[in-house]
Amino acid sequence: MKAGVGLFSALALFLLMGAVFTQRPRPKKPTRRPATTRRPSVPQPPAPGQPEPQEPTDYPPVILGMSSFFPDCPKECTCTPNYPNALNCENHNLRVIPVIPSRTHYLYLQNNFISEVTAEPFLNATDVRWINLANNRIHRIDKQVFGKIPSLLYLYIQRNQLKEVPSGLPASLEQLRLARNRISKIPSGAFSKMGNLTLLDLYHNQLSDNDLGKNTFKDLKSLMQLNLARNVLKKMPDGVPNGLIQLFLDRNLIDDIPRDYFKGFTHLAFVRLNYNQLSDKGLPKAVFNISTLLDLQLSHNQLASVPLFSSHLEHLHLDHNSIEVINGTQICPCSLDTDTSDQSLVPKLRYLRLDGNHLNPPIPVDVIMCFRHLHSIVI
Ligand SMILES: *[C@@H]1O[C@H](CO)[C@@H](O)[C@H](O)[C@H]1NC(C)=O
Ligand SMILES: *[C@@H]1O[C@H](CO)[C@@H](O)[C@H](O)[C@H]1NC(C)=O
Ligand SMILES: *[C@@H]1O[C@H](CO)[C@@H](O)[C@H](O)[C@H]1NC(C)=O
Ligand SMILES: *[C@@H]1O[C@H](CO)[C@@H](O)[C@H](O)[C@H]1NC(C)=O
Repeated sequence: MKAGVGLFSALALFLLMGAVFTQRPRPKKPTRRPATTRRPSVPQPPAPGQPEPQEPTDYPPVILGMSSFFPDCPKECTCTPNYPNALNCENHNLRVIPVIPSRTHYLYLQNNFISEVTAEPFLNATDVRWINLANNRIHRIDKQVFGKIPSLLYLYIQRNQLKEVPSGLPASLEQLRLARNRISKIPSGAFSKMGNLTLLDLYHNQLSDNDLGKNTFKDLKSLMQLNLARNVLKKMPDGVPNGLIQLFLDRNLIDDIPRDYFKGFTHLAFVRLNYNQLSDKGLPKAVFNISTLLDLQLSHNQLASVPLFSSHLEHLHLDHNSIEVINGTQICPCSLDTDTSDQSLVPKLRYLRLDGNHLNPPIPVDVIMCFRHLHSIVI
């Protein structure tokens, strides 16, 4: 027994956590992905050490593209013969969106100084599938622009200055990225009709409980990933579609989870609530006893005890709480006498973080007896 305990406590931080990403297999995947949305990498407008220009008058000059094989290629963009459906206008110091040719399916406008999205440039662009407007200065989007693009699947507008979710988006959308704006308003019906949306990213905005109604997310029947991390929510969001796979709510002010909150979810596998204000009082003991859950992150809260979880859970993050004791007999999802020759009955927990609590090694024997698949435990 002693050897076993020593072995387990010797295993230190062993990070198995890759980016959690789930996607439905898609037949018509676009052939090119947009470049990452960092500040311009090719022509670098702000020279090293220079501050980001704040005033339009400070913006560096527009960079013109090379003369193109395509007569309709806007002079401030690049069009490559190998990708006739792509229009590359990223990193060109643009202030204004150029007229988009009708052959465009993939539109790259990220990392510019665009402040408004108006209808005119898109009048002929009715076949666009993918628009990347990330990292601009957009504060206004005309209502009609995107609604007139019936084939639009991916719309990326993260890192801009939007104060509300744009209205009139097309029903065809599958991914909508609005992270890192200043959004504090979701107009009613903003997401209605979007039955094909699988990913909604509202990370790092200014949403509070009052901005999310019972019906805000109701019509998102296909939603798989919802990111509301880094907002100012005090409550769990209402009416979240129950086919969701991934729910991220890190860095809010949530102190309470209703007992039946997760009842009815059929595929929920990844839940993150790191950096909230959860204590034992606000956490019904079995609220996370969800049989589909694989990864649960509750780091940096105020929990004093380990919540119950199902035998299917694989990763559990409980570091930086106020846990003083861990009793393997109490948290074991099955009885300690379970016949371990039947592997399907053995709890699946592989990774457990408990550092930053009031616990000292060694790991209690009953924890090791219960969780036989535990690869690494950080205490
Ligand atoms: C839209 O396309 C038509 C036909 O291809 C063309 O004649 C017209 O000039 C285009 N309009 C704009 C604004 O580019
Ligand atoms: C939603 O997706 C289905 C299946 O891919 C497709 O047939 C349907 O047209 C899409 N709906 C909209 C509004 O684009
Ligand atoms: C957890 O859920 C399982 C099956 O869904 C159930 O059998 C079990 O009693 C639950 N445990 C607790 C402590 O609620
Ligand atoms: C753990 O919990 C079980 C059942 O509640 C109890 O019998 C046992 O004494 C506890 N172990 C410790 C070390 O407190």
